[in-house]
Amino acid sequence: MSKALEGVKILDMTHVQSGPTCTQLLAWFGADVLKVERPGVGDATRGQLQDIPDVDSLYFTMLNGNKRSITLNTKSDEGKAIFTKLIEHCDVMVENFAPGALDRMGFSWERIQEINPRMIYASVKGFGPGPYEDCKVYENVAQCTGGAASTTGELDGMPLVTGAQIGDSGTGLHLALGIVTALYQRNQSGRGQRVTCAMQDGVLNLCRVKLRDQQRLTHGPLTEYPQYPNGEFGEAAPRAGNASGGGQPGWIVKCKGWETDPDAYIYVIAQAAAFEGLAKVIGHEDWLEDPEWNTPKARLPKLDHMFSEIEKWTMTKTKFEAMDILNPLNVPCGPILSMKELAEEESLRETGTVVEVDHPERGKYLTVGNPIKLSDSPVDVVRSPLLGEHTDEIMSELGYGADEIAAAKNNGAV
Ligand SMILES: CC(C)(COP(=O)(O)OP(=O)(O)OC[C@H]1O[C@@H](n2cnc3c(N)ncnc32)[C@H](O)[C@@H]1OP(=O)(O)O)[C@@H](O)C(=O)NCCC(=O)NCCS
Repeated sequence: MSKALEGVKILDMTHVQSGPTCTQLLAWFGADVLKVERPGVGDATRGQLQDIPDVDSLYFTMLNGNKRSITLNTKSDEGKAIFTKLIEHCDVMVENFAPGALDRMGFSWERIQEINPRMIYASVKGFGPGPYEDCKVYENVAQCTGGAASTTGELDGMPLVTGAQIGDSGTGLHLALGIVTALYQRNQSGRGQRVTCAMQDGVLNLCRVKLRDQQRLTHGPLTEYPQYPNGEFGEAAPRAGNASGGGQPGWIVKCKGWETDPDAYIYVIAQAAAFEGLAKVIGHEDWLEDPEWNTPKARLPKLDHMFSEIEKWTMTKTKFEAMDILNPLNVPCGPILSMKELAEEESLRETGTVVEVDHPERGKYLTVGNPIKLSDSPVDVVRSPLLGEHTDEIMSELGYGADEIAAAKNNGAV
C-alpha cells in the first residue's frame, strides 16, 4: 500500500528534539527523510544520556526512526556544493539551529529560493521576532516563556514544568502541520514558502485555556479553581493544582496501595450528569436529597470535602478496580499509569503506539510509534540510522560517481 507522503523528499537539518520529532512524523507518513549530520559528530543527542557505552542513545534512536543519515560538512566549499545539490533535489528543508546559523553557512532564505523556488523551508526557533529572537531555547525554557509553568503546580508552590515535552515535541507537531499545509498550497501555486514555528508560540497555543482564564479573571473569580471561594485571586491566572480546567470538577485521589506505590492514584471527574451514580457508589446516597450537595452550584464551595469523601472510597480499590467500577457509571476517570505500565500495555503494542524495533548496535528497544493513524497510509516503524550510514547511497542518488564520493570523503566534506 502506498503512503501519504511518498515521493516527498525532506532535507533534514534538525537536531536534538523539536525538529527531529517533526521529520520523524513526516517519515512515518512516507516521506524520504535525509538527515544531514556533521562528519564525525552527528546530532549531539547520539552521545547524550547514553545507557550503553558508545551506542546511539535512546534519546537519538527514539526521535530519528525511518530516516537516512548522510554526513556533510556544510561549512566547507566542497560540502556547500553538495548541500546545494541536496537543496535542488528536495521538496522540504527543516532546521532548528540557533537563530542565524543557516545564514552564517551562506544559505539564507533568499539564496535557497534561488536554488529551488519550490523549496519549503521550515524552522523551529525559541521565539518569534521580538526582544528574544536571538536566544537559544530548550524545552523547559519554552514551557516557562509560553505560559505553561506559571499555570502549573500546587496552589501555594513554585511554578512547575511538565514531563510532556510540549515545547519540543509540541512545536515539532505544529511545524509538521505547517509543512504539509505548505506542500498542499504548492500544488496550486507551484511555489515553496517559509514555515516558521516559535516554541513560545507553540506552548502558548497549548495553554489557550489559560489565556481564556486570564480574561475571565477580570470579570470575577474563577469558580472552578480550588482557590474559590476561600482563597485569593491575584492579577494573573493562577496555578490550579490538579483541578480539571474544564467546566466539570476533577481531582487526583489516592487508591489502594498508595503508601508504597507512587502511582496508585486515579483522576476522577465529578461530572454533574453522573453525580448520582458516583454518590451512590461511594456510599453518599444522602447527598442526593440534600440541597447542600445535590446541585453543582451547592457543591462548588466544598469540592475539597467532596473529593476527600470520594478518596475514602477509592482508597479501598486499586486504580484499575476503581476504573472498572466508575466507567459503567459514566464517571470519567483515568488511572495514573506509570511508564512501566505503559511500556507493558498490550493494547498499545497492538495499535502500533508502542513499538519494539531492532538496532544493530543496541539490540531491541521500545519507541513510541505514530500516534496519528491513517487508514490508507500504514506506518512501519524502522530503527534510526547509524551516523553516515546512507552517505554513499544518497551521494549516488544525487548523481555523484564512486570517484567523486571517495574524493569528498578524502577532503572531509562527507
Ligand atoms: C537547541 C539549541 C539551543 C542548540 O544550540 P547549539 O548546540 O549551540 O547548536 P547550534 O544550533 O547553535 O549549532 C551549532 C553550530 O553547528 C553548525 N553545524 C550544524 N550542522 C553542521 C554541519 N553539518 N556542518 C557544519 N556545521 C554544522 C551550525 O552551523 C552552528 O554553527 P555556528 O554557531 O557557527 O552558526 C539551538 O540550536 C536552538 O536554540 N535551536 C532553536 C530552538 C530549538 O529547536 N530548541 C529545541 C531543541 S530540542
